[in-house]
Amino acid sequence: MTTPTTFPDDFLWGGALAANQYEGAYDADGKGLSVQDVMPQGIVGPRTEAPTPDNLKLVGIDFYHRYKEDIALLAEMGFKVFRFSIAWSRIFPNGDETEPNEAGLAFYDRVLDELEKYGIEPLVTISHYETPLHLTETYNGWADRRMIGFFERYARTLFERYGKRVKYWLTFNEINSVLHEPFMSGGINTPKEELSEQDLYQAIHHELVASASVTRIAHEINPELQVGCMILAIPFYPLTPDPRDVWAAKQAERDNYTFGDVHVRGAYPGYFLRKLRDKGIELDITEADRRTLAEHTVDFVSFSYYMSSCETATQQREASGGNLMGGVVNPTLEVSQWGWAIDPRGLRTILNDYWDRWGKPLFIVENGLGARDELVTGPDGTPTVADDYRIDYMNDHLVQVREAIADGVQVIGYTSWGCIDCVSASTAQMSKRYGFIYVDRNDDGTGTLERYRKQSFGWYRDVIASNGASLKA
Ligand code: BG6
Repeated sequence: MTTPTTFPDDFLWGGALAANQYEGAYDADGKGLSVQDVMPQGIVGPRTEAPTPDNLKLVGIDFYHRYKEDIALLAEMGFKVFRFSIAWSRIFPNGDETEPNEAGLAFYDRVLDELEKYGIEPLVTISHYETPLHLTETYNGWADRRMIGFFERYARTLFERYGKRVKYWLTFNEINSVLHEPFMSGGINTPKEELSEQDLYQAIHHELVASASVTRIAHEINPELQVGCMILAIPFYPLTPDPRDVWAAKQAERDNYTFGDVHVRGAYPGYFLRKLRDKGIELDITEADRRTLAEHTVDFVSFSYYMSSCETATQQREASGGNLMGGVVNPTLEVSQWGWAIDPRGLRTILNDYWDRWGKPLFIVENGLGARDELVTGPDGTPTVADDYRIDYMNDHLVQVREAIADGVQVIGYTSWGCIDCVSASTAQMSKRYGFIYVDRNDDGTGTLERYRKQSFGWYRDVIASNGASLKA
């Protein structure tokens, strides 16, 4: 057999979005509030007591009412897969009810009908930074063990309803981000500065058990279902060759590896247990928890990749910008308009590292460039965006995916982030755009919500149609 030098025939090309960033309709048809409805400035500003009109996510890009038109555009690009999340509080408005909200379930039936019409495979994130607010305020989110039961009921409802139509599932989006954003990621109400490490790691344990437990439920309902974990991936490089810097970078990576190690290997790694011992943390881990973790490991590993970072124990620290977490600035790399290091080769590194470490099929479920776009008149008179910077970014990353596949890494697919412009997670801006499709909405909430194809739209359509052969090395 020759070494594969291109993408497999069944490679899943597509894009990704999350309910809270694109659906809008935040209180329609019985939906309850989620943590996002009280985060008008994302993670960069204070939360509010109740939803406020300046919160762009309340309307999002109104996918809730425009899903037919939007999915038709994705189909026009030739999407094979579409990753989206289900808003937990559409299905269980408070999170702790015993019966689901039928109107919420029916909405996702309609979305799936539309995807099926075009032969687009759904990839569903069960929890994407959308913990029902009631669970946060009443139980302190994942800090409370009872969350496992609420999550099991919610996930079981989804598997029973959609398990014949949705094969690929992700449990928690960027599960490791809870280390840095306990409210948005873990629905933990205790302010970050007051949250003890004991409670934080206990919350992480609850999430990991819940993830394994719903993997079991999925497989019981339909053994064909494929359940993956989802990790925020950042390769950390030592800032200098000093062994102390090498170790610092390794420690930073291990903070993230822990989550994949548990999901794939079914137990906490020794380095993590040592960390807990050193910090004097004793977790409440039952025998049943241990069995659940050990017996219900994931079918595949998915991750987001936007950037790499450096670490150092010996040099002055110049903090790098980054996706919910960062280290120190890498002086060899350019950065995006939001200060995220641009490092296509880092994607090949991560793919190889994860494959070598876990030997599980990998799914790149987020990657892309957040940039300010300018709407101009295209050659045919219709509005467009000349986003060659985005094309360059994605081309260069996909070339590295191709290299990793040639290295022998098994990659299932690639879903670029924010395939249609949506509201940013970290800054809650519209102006931080990732899409192939421009949405006419501004940071002040004005705009018609009209959709326009950017130049990258046709570029990506060609990449998909040629199964990657049109990429420029
Ligand atoms: C990931 C999230 O952190 O990165 C997405 O899973 C998010 O929800 C994406 O939108 C890009 O981040 P941002 O902050 O630019 O929207």
